Amino acid sequence: MKTFLCKVCGHIAFNEAPGFCPVCGAPKTSFVEKPDIIQKPGSSQGKGEAEAKHIPKIVIVKKCDLVSGGCVDVHAKIGEAEHPMLKEHHITFIDFYLDTTFLSRVHLTPERLNPAAALHLKRTSGELTVVEHCNVHGYWMATAIL
Ligand SMILES: [Fe+2]
Repeated sequence: MKTFLCKVCGHIAFNEAPGFCPVCGAPKTSFVEKPDIIQKPGSSQGKGEAEAKHIPKIVIVKKCDLVSGGCVDVHAKIGEAEHPMLKEHHITFIDFYLDTTFLSRVHLTPERLNPAAALHLKRTSGELTVVEHCNVHGYWMATAIL
């Protein structure tokens, strides 16, 4: 799967560069293909403690009573060993995708927020992807089936 980086806001698009960045609105020309920008579980760059602190841990909660008609809760925590949220080293954002289509970005403020985010999905099936960005260690991702 190809990965493209928005040079303006750091958003990652899968498969092809979109007409406009869904996060910051920058045009297609702002995207560059970056084949190895995301570290995944088991990747050669992402081993040991770095992997434990950065790979998103995804929890799917099928039963959510918050929205009428029901919804699927998606919780993402960075990572298995909790990532710091210090000014000098923190998670800057978490981007969510369903079947590689962008859903939402959650910006995280260091010192005030935990390295975690949640969404309430309408759809109840598909593959969820979570991409997080650490200001020191870059991009990491994980996927889960709804
Ligand atoms: Fe980090």
